[in-house]
Amino acid sequence: MLRGVLATCRPGFEKECASELSERATQLGLSGYPQTKPDAGFCVYHFNEPVGESCFESFQWKSLIFARSIFCLPTPMLEVPETDRVTPILSALKEWHKGLRFNTLLVESSDSDSGRELSAFCRSFSKPLRAALLKAGNKVEFWDESSSPEPQTRCLHVFFLDYSRVYVGVSLHRYNSPWPRGIARLRFPSDSPSRSTLKLEEAFLSFMNEDERASSLSPARRAVDLGASPGGWTYQFVKRGVRTMAVDNGPMDERLLESGLVEHLRVDGFKFVPARPVDWMVCDMVEQPKRVAELAMNWWQNQSARRLIFNLKLPMKKRWVEVSEIRLALDEQLKKINRPHKLMMKQLYHDREEITVYIGPHS
Ligand SMILES: C[S@@+](CC[C@H](N)C(=O)[O-])C[C@H]1O[C@@H](n2cnc3c(N)ncnc32)[C@H](O)[C@@H]1O
Repeated sequence: MLRGVLATCRPGFEKECASELSERATQLGLSGYPQTKPDAGFCVYHFNEPVGESCFESFQWKSLIFARSIFCLPTPMLEVPETDRVTPILSALKEWHKGLRFNTLLVESSDSDSGRELSAFCRSFSKPLRAALLKAGNKVEFWDESSSPEPQTRCLHVFFLDYSRVYVGVSLHRYNSPWPRGIARLRFPSDSPSRSTLKLEEAFLSFMNEDERASSLSPARRAVDLGASPGGWTYQFVKRGVRTMAVDNGPMDERLLESGLVEHLRVDGFKFVPARPVDWMVCDMVEQPKRVAELAMNWWQNQSARRLIFNLKLPMKKRWVEVSEIRLALDEQLKKINRPHKLMMKQLYHDREEITVYIGPHS
């Protein structure tokens, strides 16, 4: 049985993460309470009564906006002595579920300042822990950036708060982020005109499967990029051969224009309508999030684009309220339009004070 969930998040977004976990628990009829600290980079939601394995699916990464990664907690936080940290972890696991096997192991800490100080320790501790698990008959591999675990397999998470306090948890890879700790380590292409290119690349990887990416991002496709200057998002289309209308009064990167695939239109992104439907509309305009969401809904309603990705900037104080209202409005309008769709909203690793939204056909 599971006693809670631990979600990591962007440091500074703990309150939003806690509100979201609480909301989810309430929707599921579970009672409990969130526990977090400002800038901790994670939030724990404790259940008042233990919950079964449905917890994995109910709190899955794809369905949560602010969780970078998430796992379920079978045991309360453990105090581990410096002299032997392995034994209490193994005994807690044994007590929880005799004979349960894990396929992967991730020893981790949060992405906060204090969490990052623990990363070297986590790396070195993972070796003796894996050796002890192997000795106990549990054949685990490390989960790192170079591995792609099977969706049906389980990961053992060992999450250090400091050198002597640790949460031990479990996730099903199918229901968690594809990246360890939810950190998409993408290489910045040196010929991209801006770093925000990584946001769109991460969005493609987060919101679509391989087949959807292959079919929707091929040279036969056409895209509109609203608020395109200097061209980091357009770059993602151009590198895949997608013809792109880049809408912005600002300048576009010369190399992108020279590709012959980009048409630069110096017009207002809120007024622009393509002459015929396109495969993609993406939007990174710095504007009120409700206005951007409304614009995206017009595109979807008019079938002007088959897939949409738009970024919502969240400079306001009541970010959770704003995001919840937008999600509700999107849900209601999508329901009214009544076309099979997939809606996903996430604060990506490369997002700052913002979240990214995807709307596409139901896959
Ligand atoms: C964050 S930047 C976009 C960065 C771009 N995605 C990249 O990767 O290089 C926002 C852009 O939106 C543009 N913008 C803001 N309001 C706009 C509007 N109403 N119409 C067109 N562009 C707009 C700005 O000129 C600015 O270049």
